[in-house]
Amino acid sequence: MSKSEYFDAAWQRTQFCGTVDEQSDGKEIIVNGWVRCHRNLGGIIFIQLWDYKGVLQIVFSPEFGDVHERAKSLRSEYVIAVRGKVLRRPAGTENENISTGNVELIANDFLLLSPALPLPFEIGDETDAVDESLRLTYRYLDLRRDRMQSNIRVRSKIAAFTREYFDSKEFVEIETPMLTKATPEGARDYLVPSRVNPGEFYALPQSPQIFKQILMISGFDKYYQIVRCFRDEDLRADRQPDFTQLDIEMSYITEKDIQELIEGYMSGLFKKILGLDIKTPFKRMSYWEAIDKYGSDKPDLRIPIEFSDLAPVFSKAEFEPFKVILSEGGVIRALPLPGGASLSRKELTTIEERAKKLGASGLAAFQFKDGEIKGALVKFLKSSEIEELIQISNIADGDALFVIAGNDRRKTCERLGTLRLELAKEHGLIAENAWELLWVTDFPLFEWDEEGKRWSAVHHPFTSPNLDDLDKLDKDPGNVRSRAYDCVLNGVEIGGGSIRIHDPKVQEKAFSALAFTSETARERFGFLLDALASGTPPHGGIAFGIDRITMLLCGEQSIRDVIAFPKNQHARCPLSGAPTVVEDKRLEELKISVKSGEKKAEN
Ligand code: AMO
Repeated sequence: MSKSEYFDAAWQRTQFCGTVDEQSDGKEIIVNGWVRCHRNLGGIIFIQLWDYKGVLQIVFSPEFGDVHERAKSLRSEYVIAVRGKVLRRPAGTENENISTGNVELIANDFLLLSPALPLPFEIGDETDAVDESLRLTYRYLDLRRDRMQSNIRVRSKIAAFTREYFDSKEFVEIETPMLTKATPEGARDYLVPSRVNPGEFYALPQSPQIFKQILMISGFDKYYQIVRCFRDEDLRADRQPDFTQLDIEMSYITEKDIQELIEGYMSGLFKKILGLDIKTPFKRMSYWEAIDKYGSDKPDLRIPIEFSDLAPVFSKAEFEPFKVILSEGGVIRALPLPGGASLSRKELTTIEERAKKLGASGLAAFQFKDGEIKGALVKFLKSSEIEELIQISNIADGDALFVIAGNDRRKTCERLGTLRLELAKEHGLIAENAWELLWVTDFPLFEWDEEGKRWSAVHHPFTSPNLDDLDKLDKDPGNVRSRAYDCVLNGVEIGGGSIRIHDPKVQEKAFSALAFTSETARERFGFLLDALASGTPPHGGIAFGIDRITMLLCGEQSIRDVIAFPKNQHARCPLSGAPTVVEDKRLEELKISVKSGEKKAEN
């Protein structure tokens, strides 16, 4: 190896591959990058050289004897530096698909900087078809694709804009600890053993919730942080064990202040990233309105169909099963499907089977065709009731109507809500290029946990009850509304927050409704209770999932595609192999023993 074979300033790029155009015609330049595609046509070697700004065609012609000879050994993803002269491509050989398609670089020398092993998959946009586990194992190659490059760069722009926006509003970015105590966000904690304090564990934060509230008590007034959070929960396309929040807290505010701040942030973000103007203020909808109309607390408003309440019809009609459900306090909801009158009997049965799989006892279908209503329940309805059904559900000739009944209002609506999403996808009812942002408000404060036979917090135990419902805290916890709000974009919950309890007496009441004994409350959150008792401004906040926002703005279906090194569905990192078994010596230091048979050797 001689010194001349190594990279130095003489081989540094004078231009990026993707920026070369006719203006450089006739100029001698140097480019550095990866060999994408190479072809040998009649003795001339053509290479597409890639850097993050694009690709440039390089031509190795036999007239440069030795250089041409050496170029024959170049392979995909070799890293090279090339010196040459830019020329317009001969007429008829231009490539409109790339930004540099009118020119090419006639190489007069090149330096091989790094060869590459044969690839496990070809790098190009077709890599989407490659098995995801292979992509994650060779993530460094996957990230070299234009699509992934663009996603990760958009993410960086989102973070930069976020800091700019909150800094301009006098927010202070404050880091909160990663090695901390359990925070109550409803998932399991990731625990970290302490070597210095054997037998004791830190928890990685599920969110900075308690610390940000304490920062309000400490007088910071406006806090934000782009922060990593950790939750040990079942994974889905929009969930990762470690993910990133934009976390915010403010003092002396009401819901309106937070919502206006976020509307300003979101409209700035859409403008910056997509060049779009979004409508503010966002729509607002109470939790129960969202459940009753869309069967979801994160309704996708790009879908133009909503439920109607058929209780007025079926309380009169002579159909016993529905009458009974209504008399027991149950609900009857109907979902229209535009064009659904043409569904076959078989297709209707399949949809009913799906509803049953979701837990419904049945699904009744009506079809409105040629001025006539058809369906198994028609015979139980008088013509005036049919008229009323058409009027309430607002269906037109050509549509179908799916009706579901059940005793549990939320569960019944949610089943129909799942069908709404599935049918909308299948029937192309989701408006393309639409951005539907909304606030969902007035969540219940508590929900009944059937397994634990106790009330649990819908958000977290520091969420303030609606002041009009304070007296229900002891007597009727299930009907206490909270001062929580979620922000929903195209059916994805991108953020959630609340006005907090700032009165230790109310906080203790909330803990007692959650069946925390005062000892448990003290043991878990005593430091917060003490802090609350030492001069606490009214405060509230919100946190957004940066991964989810990025996913939506990039048009991706999974947050894994906007995270450089994500975990797979089994919470593993296929690239590094984490989590791994550790040596016994290290476990001894931590005074930890792993039950025999629990340790897996392979990863
Ligand atoms: P919450 O639990 O609603 O609220 O979380 C806020 C937002 O974080 C995102 N998110 C996730 N993203 C990816 N993977 C996950 N596993 C995951 N879990 C949550 C979502 C969600 O809307 N401390 C409160 C906020 C507050 O009250 O201020 C909190 O963490 O986009």
